Amino acid sequence: MTFHTLNELIADGVRGRYILVRSDLNVPLDGSEVTDDGRIKASLPVLTKLTDAGARVLVTAHLGRPKGAPEEKYSLKPAATRLAELASFKVTLAGDTVGASAKELAASLQDGEALVLENVRFDARETSKDDAERGAFADELIALTGGNGAYVDDAFGAVHRKHASVYDVATRLPSYQGDLVHTEVEVLRKLTTDTQRPYVVVLGGSKVSDKLAVIDNLIGKADTILVGGGMLFTFLAAAGHKVAGSLLEEDQIPVVQDYLKRAADAGTEFIVPTDVEVAAKFAADADHETVRADAIEGSSFGAQGIGLDIGPESAAAFASRIKGAKTVFWNGPMGVFEFEAFAGGTRAIAQALTEADAFTVVGGGDSAAAVRTLGFADDQFGHISTGGGASLEYLEGKELPGLSVLDR
Ligand code: 3PG
Repeated sequence: MTFHTLNELIADGVRGRYILVRSDLNVPLDGSEVTDDGRIKASLPVLTKLTDAGARVLVTAHLGRPKGAPEEKYSLKPAATRLAELASFKVTLAGDTVGASAKELAASLQDGEALVLENVRFDARETSKDDAERGAFADELIALTGGNGAYVDDAFGAVHRKHASVYDVATRLPSYQGDLVHTEVEVLRKLTTDTQRPYVVVLGGSKVSDKLAVIDNLIGKADTILVGGGMLFTFLAAAGHKVAGSLLEEDQIPVVQDYLKRAADAGTEFIVPTDVEVAAKFAADADHETVRADAIEGSSFGAQGIGLDIGPESAAAFASRIKGAKTVFWNGPMGVFEFEAFAGGTRAIAQALTEADAFTVVGGGDSAAAVRTLGFADDQFGHISTGGGASLEYLEGKELPGLSVLDR
């Protein structure tokens, strides 16, 4: 695929023009506080380039998954406030997406300023399956740009969504690939072509069903897949072990068993933890103990015990594999890192990535937030992807609508 670049757009001249930019400002919040501003910081360079060149920038973005109507808790206000604090240009937030406020503020926008439109998902047409509905919403977004607008997709985290602000606007306006999307795609390409070996993939997170397609695609490509997080219990169950009250997706056991068999034939090694941290309940201050992964019901908490992290022996074994790798992709925390008592596995993996003499990629909003929450800096890793689902779908080999629509 080839794309028109942001530099081409700027060379064509943007002063005084309305440029619609799709950014990914979907950041975690604690009330009205942004708890990880990684995606906002990652969106800043493109917005700065455009405003420096005199564009009038209209930013579209989503936050969370509102049900197609305004909801205060999903307002982009905290994200826009943080963007305004970080930006060297003026940032205003509209009170709606394509309504009276957006129209009025867009009309009074000056060269070199940015207007953030309220959450695009406050309009049900954004995510509609109906092409005409999405198209009508895209037309209303485009109407804000006057007659000479252009579109820049810089929301890597949303390129797997066939949504109006990602896909349909690009079919209707001259469209360009933002630098963030460009960088992300280049990094992920390195994980799929000419990958330096050993290639170790670390997968965590709660649900194995979210990761099945990527696991399927990695069999035969990755040398080693390290399994942690809530999904490890489905792997343990697939090996015939009882997991007490831990997270288990029983319907996925046969799928996992099939993967384990195919992986053995294809030369990909799955490594599942040998010990786990089992807690009496799901709480930060829960009593807990380290037990063998094949004897979880033997903990003091019996059948009530819940596995909330990989154990120290497994963390050390995973770290050693990571340090021996030349390429590492990590998606999904190893345990409930938000609770200090169960952050050990995730911390050990992050530490190992920083120490590995390898090309290391951290993918996914949760994993990126985890490494920052645990005190690691972005520059300790080869690349921290802003895309969760998007980076997984890229590695699954799926076509991403937000990318293919930009193909010229
Ligand atoms: C993400 O958080 O991965 C992106 O912002 C996409 O969000 P979504 O999964 O709600 O579409």
